[in-house]
Amino acid sequence: MIRLRKCAVWATLLAISGAVSAQQNVAQQNGPAPSAEGRRTIHVQGTDATEAKIGQLIKEMTLEEKVNMIHASSSFTSGGVPRLGIPELVTSDGPHGVRLEHGRGWDDSQVHVFDSATYFPVGVCLAATWNPHLGFLQGSALGAESNARGKDVQLGPGINIIRTPLNGRNFEYMSEDPYLISRMVVGEIKGMQSQGISACVKHYLANNQEINRSHIDVEMSERALREIYLPGFKAAITEGGANTIMGAYNKFRGQFCTENAYLIDTILKKEWGFKGIVISDWGAVHNTMEALENGTDLEMGTDLDMLPNPDYHKFFMGDTVLTLVRNGVVSQELVDDKVRRILRIMFKTRMMDHGRQKGSFDTREHQEVARKVAEEGIVLLKNDTHILPLDAHTVHTVAVIGANAGRLNAQGGGSSQVRSLYEITPLQGLKNLVGAQVKLTYAQGYTIARGAQADPALIAQAAEAAAHADVAIIVGGWTHGYDYAIWKDNAYDAEDVDKPNMDMPFGQDELIRAVVKANPRTVVVLMGGGPIDMTRWETTVPGILQAWYPGLEGGTALAKILFGEVNPSGKLPMSFPRKLEDVPAQKLGEYPGDGTTVRYNDGIYVGYRYYDTYKVAPLFPFGHGLSYTTFGYSDLSVVPAGKDQVTVRFTVRNTGKRAGSEVAQVYVHEEKCSVDRPEKELKSFEKVYLEPGASKVVTLTLNKDAFQYYSEAKHKWVLEPGRFDFLVGSSSRDIRLQGNLGL
Ligand code: BGC
Repeated sequence: MIRLRKCAVWATLLAISGAVSAQQNVAQQNGPAPSAEGRRTIHVQGTDATEAKIGQLIKEMTLEEKVNMIHASSSFTSGGVPRLGIPELVTSDGPHGVRLEHGRGWDDSQVHVFDSATYFPVGVCLAATWNPHLGFLQGSALGAESNARGKDVQLGPGINIIRTPLNGRNFEYMSEDPYLISRMVVGEIKGMQSQGISACVKHYLANNQEINRSHIDVEMSERALREIYLPGFKAAITEGGANTIMGAYNKFRGQFCTENAYLIDTILKKEWGFKGIVISDWGAVHNTMEALENGTDLEMGTDLDMLPNPDYHKFFMGDTVLTLVRNGVVSQELVDDKVRRILRIMFKTRMMDHGRQKGSFDTREHQEVARKVAEEGIVLLKNDTHILPLDAHTVHTVAVIGANAGRLNAQGGGSSQVRSLYEITPLQGLKNLVGAQVKLTYAQGYTIARGAQADPALIAQAAEAAAHADVAIIVGGWTHGYDYAIWKDNAYDAEDVDKPNMDMPFGQDELIRAVVKANPRTVVVLMGGGPIDMTRWETTVPGILQAWYPGLEGGTALAKILFGEVNPSGKLPMSFPRKLEDVPAQKLGEYPGDGTTVRYNDGIYVGYRYYDTYKVAPLFPFGHGLSYTTFGYSDLSVVPAGKDQVTVRFTVRNTGKRAGSEVAQVYVHEEKCSVDRPEKELKSFEKVYLEPGASKVVTLTLNKDAFQYYSEAKHKWVLEPGRFDFLVGSSSRDIRLQGNLGL
């Protein structure tokens, strides 16, 4: 809590080069939109010639100059060496828009200011598209905006596993499933870095709760680490080629993640061959020797107690390092390695020759990307009696109900805040789309304030409005904080806080029940970073949509889905349990731990791996999402394709009357194995767009890693020969085709 308040103050101190260059860049805002064409090729590792130049520069540097480069020089920059033409490194949050510079509250005038940016849908909404190409497009647009705003490093994507629905930061993350994360993160990183800036994938590792995040020690099995918590990061580094990575606040097996020998030195740098920069989370370094020796390359955000005049030389990786090197306790080569990594990324992203792309921000193209992601990320959870889509010719009056219908979210949630040029709320989106034909009435329904209970007067107004309308649309769910300074007062999806439970806050259960009673033709739209307890009303409501925090065009996308201009195609990237008590972190493991340690005794049984293996029915399963059309699956063939590879082929047909997209999912299960394996695991998927009546043969090749498990006895991945089931379907619990093969 303290940290974040201080971070806000730090942001106000940002009279730094980033802010200045951003102002200068306003003129460039109408520059070209990011496109796959014309991208510079960026080599993961410097060429020999570049490495030689780096070596030469290091030779010319004094020890003081080197040490200056490995710690912050302001809240979001680290030191440069002007005499050698080495610039400061300018970082910025992240992950769904370039953060504002001042930490001021919402600017009601919403003028186009130099630190505005496109507010993209949050990470979990992007993941719900199951469309890696959209990840690439959103990443590209973010990269272009980072360039225009003078940033070198975009502090995102955030990809920690969604282990419990209570984590306040789930909205910034992607999924409970490592395979889905891997596919989405690679696309996003490649998009960002195609613009010549650096992605900073975060928070490495196991930041799966915000409670006690600054000191909690995470204990998990090696198998859980390898099968669940590492693969997303591995893909980000080895496939996505992320230039930088951020160490998490928490501890892992007794040592802080940011300076963790096993995670950083052994796995990241040695096993995966990472050549880029390990950046600490802000204030996550605690020990100079550990940071130096275990692989931290750049220390940011430390010693907030020094505000308002921080002395950056007093950071753990500041003057102390000078003394240690001078006294011979630490070798200069250790410092050189960190400087080399920073310079390598500077050369790679053309910071050294000022050759960076100009970028663009707040462009129509970027807003369109945000809209498209929202259109594909919003999930239709339930659609009984075909209440949706609404028809603007037959629906004359709609009662729009709920405080979230008119709420702005861009500045919510903590460090991921964005000063959005504008933000189309659900209510505004409906007005824009159908306001001329359909009478829209609005009732607030509930009050957003911590501890607020059902308000009989607001509920009565809402029920009255619903009774006089053809359809009621309730927009509710979770909230971010509204204003940076007070976001915790009413925040459920926010940094440094977890949700107290899964119950609907602010008396929304009572509201929904009263509205449905007044008008059974009710649709509930839920905002938020994940599931909420719907059991008190779910069976009585015919239509339910999960809208996450869908970015600045979210209201447009939602209105188009409600009125059928867009056919929904989002799928849940996490299971929605019926009750908090069903969640494996709570049931098998510990959450939030005893204040010192949290033991992940749930092991590999995270999300659907648990629900399906332990036969616990979720309310809405992983991979679930409805469409206004229907899809048929047929003609499955599962054939060997080279050593330990299998080709899975099947046909998907649009059997309904509207064009639409289906995410065809392939799960694998080993029938018998010497170790416990989950009932099913996602190993491939493809999103297919089909006109009515059209079909497509989907061909997916699964590699060896789709069949392996991590053996703790052998300390390696093992493919244990046996029969494997191939489950193909529309969600983890809507399996349409099944085949098997011996390997
Ligand atoms: C957050 C990071 C963020 C950093 C800089 C930290 O509190 O955990 O995600 O990038 O602040 O704002």
